[in-house]
Amino acid sequence: MELSASILSADLLNLERDISQVLEMGVKWIHLDVMDGHFVPNLTFGIPLGQAIVSKFKVNIESHLMVDNPDKFLDKYCSFSKILTFHYEAPVQTNRTIKDIEGFGVIPGLSIKPGTHPSTIEKFLPEVGFVLVMTVEPGFSGQKLIEDSLYKVKLLRDYREKESLSFLIGVDGGINRENIGKVAATGPDMIISASSIFNGDIRENINHLKSAISVVTNGQ
Ligand code: DX5
Ligand code: ZN
Repeated sequence: MELSASILSADLLNLERDISQVLEMGVKWIHLDVMDGHFVPNLTFGIPLGQAIVSKFKVNIESHLMVDNPDKFLDKYCSFSKILTFHYEAPVQTNRTIKDIEGFGVIPGLSIKPGTHPSTIEKFLPEVGFVLVMTVEPGFSGQKLIEDSLYKVKLLRDYREKESLSFLIGVDGGINRENIGKVAATGPDMIISASSIFNGDIRENINHLKSAISVVTNGQ
């Protein structure tokens, strides 16, 4: 089970230092939240930051597009992303965007908001490499985990097994030291966290989160 660090809560004026610390702690994924101020009521990182990170660090970027139009700049997002995730709720032709991402040699990911049932995206599951289950309403870090969304992880795992599919499952939003055990127990492949990694001592935070994950994974 991978831990991915969402830099939304990083110290932006010391981003190089914060990313270095995360990588030193063995985290291999950076989660880049791209928000357009329309799909969500917030505005964040764009293409130059993603490109700067991959040119400086040996790290996989998993980009989370919270934008109305993921098709615009798709080639640019793909230039720095290992996984490129967009929202099922975005008003685009989901199938075509998935294919286009794949065409750029990047793993296509599909994300669902807390109110969207996984059955809605069933027909796309054979085509994607990643499903991102949102456990907060997208837009901001530091929100409270919506526990009622966690059932989706097991549902997606069961469906994946039944249909012999291979997409990975990520969980994003509101995950902290207290609830990460519960989240890990649902069996996702990736857990994303911003505030619980970057608020306070990064090394200590990652140690806590990782050991809570290993309690669950070693016990299985
Ligand atoms: C929310 C973002 C999340 C967010 C997580 O819109 O997609 O990735 O950064 O932040 P925390 O872990 O603080 O809830
Ligand atoms: Zn995110």
